[in-house]
Amino acid sequence: MVCPSLVTRTPLLPFCLLVSIVLAVDPQIIPFSSKSYGPDGPWQAITIGVGMPSQSVDLLPGGSWSSDILAPSVCADGAACPVASLAGFYNASASSTNVQIGQTGNIRGSSFESTGGGLPSLTGSADYMFETATLKVQNGVAGQPVDVNLSDFDMLVISEANETLPDGTMYPVQIGSLSLGCPQFNQSWTHFPPNPRFNGTFLPADLFAQGKVPSNSYGLHIGSAAMRISGSLNIGGFDQSRALGQVSSQVYIINHLPIDLLDIGIGVAEGGSPFNFTSKSGLLAAGNSTLSPSTSVFIETPLPYIYMPQSTCDAITQYLPVTYQAKYGLYFWNTDDANYARIVSSPPSSPSPSASTAT
Ligand SMILES: *[C@@H]1O[C@H](CO)[C@@H](O)[C@H](O)[C@H]1NC(C)=O
Ligand SMILES: *[C@@H]1O[C@H](CO)[C@@H](O)[C@H](O)[C@H]1NC(C)=O
Ligand SMILES: *[C@@H]1O[C@H](CO)[C@@H](O)[C@H](O)[C@H]1NC(C)=O
Ligand SMILES: *[C@@H]1O[C@H](CO)[C@@H](O)[C@H](O)[C@H]1NC(C)=O
Ligand SMILES: *[C@@H]1O[C@H](CO)[C@@H](O)[C@H](O)[C@H]1NC(C)=O
Ligand SMILES: *[C@@H]1O[C@H](CO)[C@@H](O)[C@H](O)[C@H]1NC(C)=O
Ligand SMILES: *[C@@H]1O[C@H](CO)[C@@H](O)[C@H](O)[C@H]1NC(C)=O
Repeated sequence: MVCPSLVTRTPLLPFCLLVSIVLAVDPQIIPFSSKSYGPDGPWQAITIGVGMPSQSVDLLPGGSWSSDILAPSVCADGAACPVASLAGFYNASASSTNVQIGQTGNIRGSSFESTGGGLPSLTGSADYMFETATLKVQNGVAGQPVDVNLSDFDMLVISEANETLPDGTMYPVQIGSLSLGCPQFNQSWTHFPPNPRFNGTFLPADLFAQGKVPSNSYGLHIGSAAMRISGSLNIGGFDQSRALGQVSSQVYIINHLPIDLLDIGIGVAEGGSPFNFTSKSGLLAAGNSTLSPSTSVFIETPLPYIYMPQSTCDAITQYLPVTYQAKYGLYFWNTDDANYARIVSSPPSSPSPSASTAT
């Protein structure tokens, strides 16, 4: 059984180097939107313009293959969709540059698991579409934001979809995601006539192909809206000030960025401990030696929770004022508990190393 822990959205830094041909250009910063989203966040997003004329949508950065974009029909009942309405929709009928090809297939009233993106829990309908897109890039922190155009931007446009809670309750999809690529340069389909193949493109690969960034790669640190730490997305490089400790390299598998998690601990970096101890380690594999010496986890930045085996959740939560909410499959803080404020305002110690040796 997997259960989500209360630890939400630890700032992770997936750095993904896909092609390493170095040119005399700098990595480009993608500025974050001034808006953030979601009752369980808020999470910071990136603004992208899709279609002609351009329709502005905010997307959570992360995930692989196509970007997930919401059509207005997901919120036929607008009142049910405050988050989606704030982030914006893409209406394919209102764009003169929409391209669809029959060979992509589509999703009709079924799970999104087959798409490989960060949406395995969604059920609904969606179509692959390709568009011109535009977004701002900035050359270094001192640079001015300038527009770049993307062509055949690869999208899965969701016309209807629900998330299902553990108790069976459904709620509509909340916000789309901005894919940061995949192990291949393009998503390529045979087409009629069969040559040339039709290629959908991704943000890092397209900027690399245009010669605007030195490599088909990205560095993402999602920051924290609540703590006023802005997100950092660099294409063709990463912000060294967001990387703590040793940097290692990992294999990239078809849909995911896996990494070996070695342990989970609770610690206090400075000041008095709100716990009856100053640090506690060994929580990942406590009572479950199959999780030792490491367990492989997938980094999925658009997903708001960290999902851990029950044994790990039990080991962590025995020290925290939280209550398991079966309806949501989540632990909620007991905000009335005397220790709650002390714990959440106490600076955590640096994370334990979570990387395996380079592969
Ligand atoms: C989508 O665009 C079409 C064409 O402009 C328009 O008729 C329709 O009302 C739009 N739908 C929504 C939900 O905005
Ligand atoms: C989504 O949920 C709503 C409300 O529960 C339901 O009416 C609709 O049929 C669901 N759609 C899908 C694709 O499951
Ligand atoms: C992007 O495309 C728009 C619309 O075709 C065009 O007006 C603009 O000049 C292009 N921008 C760049 C940087 O190529
Ligand atoms: C798509 O990419 C393939 C290589 O993967 C190439 O052979 C083909 O010409 C490309 N299609 C177009 C339209 O450029
Ligand atoms: C990716 O797709 C573009 C557009 O079709 C094409 O020009 C390019 O050659 C493709 N690149 C690779 C490496 O397949
Ligand atoms: C610490 O231990 C004391 C005495 O055993 C107990 O009353 C208190 O609740 C504990 N505090 C925490 C945060 O576990
Ligand atoms: C122990 O860990 C394994 C994964 O290695 C997991 O499948 C299993 O559910 C865990 N057991 C419990 C009781 O959480």
